[in-house]
Amino acid sequence: MEAVSNSEGRRGRRVNPKPPTLLLTGLVTGLAGCSGSHSILDPAGPAARDVAWLWWGMLIGFTLVFLAVVALWLAAFRRRGGTDQTAGPGQEYDSEAARRLGLRWILGGGILLPGVSVLVLLAFGVPAGHRLLPLPLPDGEPPRVIEVTGHQWWWEVRYPNEAGEVVTANHLVMPAGEPVDFHVTGADVIHAFWVPRLGGKIDMIPGRVNRIRLEADAPGVFGAQCAEYCGVQHAHMHLHLEAVPPEEFDAWLAARRDAEPAPDDPDDGHAPARATFAEHCAECHRVAGLSDGDRGPDLSDLGARATLGAGTLAMEEGAIARWLAEHQRLKPGNRMPAHDHLEPEALDALGAWLETLRP
Ligand code: CUA
Repeated sequence: MEAVSNSEGRRGRRVNPKPPTLLLTGLVTGLAGCSGSHSILDPAGPAARDVAWLWWGMLIGFTLVFLAVVALWLAAFRRRGGTDQTAGPGQEYDSEAARRLGLRWILGGGILLPGVSVLVLLAFGVPAGHRLLPLPLPDGEPPRVIEVTGHQWWWEVRYPNEAGEVVTANHLVMPAGEPVDFHVTGADVIHAFWVPRLGGKIDMIPGRVNRIRLEADAPGVFGAQCAEYCGVQHAHMHLHLEAVPPEEFDAWLAARRDAEPAPDDPDDGHAPARATFAEHCAECHRVAGLSDGDRGPDLSDLGARATLGAGTLAMEEGAIARWLAEHQRLKPGNRMPAHDHLEPEALDALGAWLETLRP
């Protein structure tokens, strides 16, 4: 960069003032990625630390290569300014020397350098990848398993357990401080499961279960994002991932496992909403004790989730009713039909009842 701006300065014809502005914008935007809930440069687990080290190593290595190439490029320009390299006939000795020099560059720069670079990358990359594999642990205790299925455009999360399976959607809770095996697949097209602060990503392929081991050093909230283009709402496929102390995780799981089915108390004021749900929603959505629909997200603990529409809308009072009324505007093309045929009051009542669904 330095050399380029120097040469521009020498010639004194800076016609376009935009490049520095663009560079600055790019730099600021790029640096913004160094922190936050989705930054691979802010690792929060052993696998992610390997990935981050590899990233820094590659950045330093390839910066050095880039600088070396620029230096050679400038050196070549200098030489060309003196003598013409494509010397005319009668200069046998020079052309032979140039041929040998060229051969050396081809062998060194074209074979040796890439070979060494790839070997160094493998030396660091293979152990980093190895850490993501669900291999047996030294103490023999198998890690907990969480199953995640990618749908267009939401996440189904299952906690298999002898005591009873727990199902939720778009909100994943995992124990911190211990490895967890994620078994992932796709329901319709290929998606990819990626928790940047915990480790590398893995494809979610229909008809196949891929496994990845992740660990969170400490409790925290981490962003996860679908990392494989899967259709028009790929960007709105965010997963809220929360790592909590193992005791808290067990309590969370038990609360969902033992949750009473949605109460059917005719006097609780939500009876009309339940009727609306049974008529219009139950076909696609499950609510424990009430319906078994499995086309859309399980709504049994909807009121306890952090977001709606896989990260499209923050969960707050009235958010569900707003989502029900405007979801096709907020997340166009999502698989839930518009509810224009329902009265706004009915949607409000439905939203208010769904908000009460929490274990
Ligand atoms: Cu699912 Cu991209």
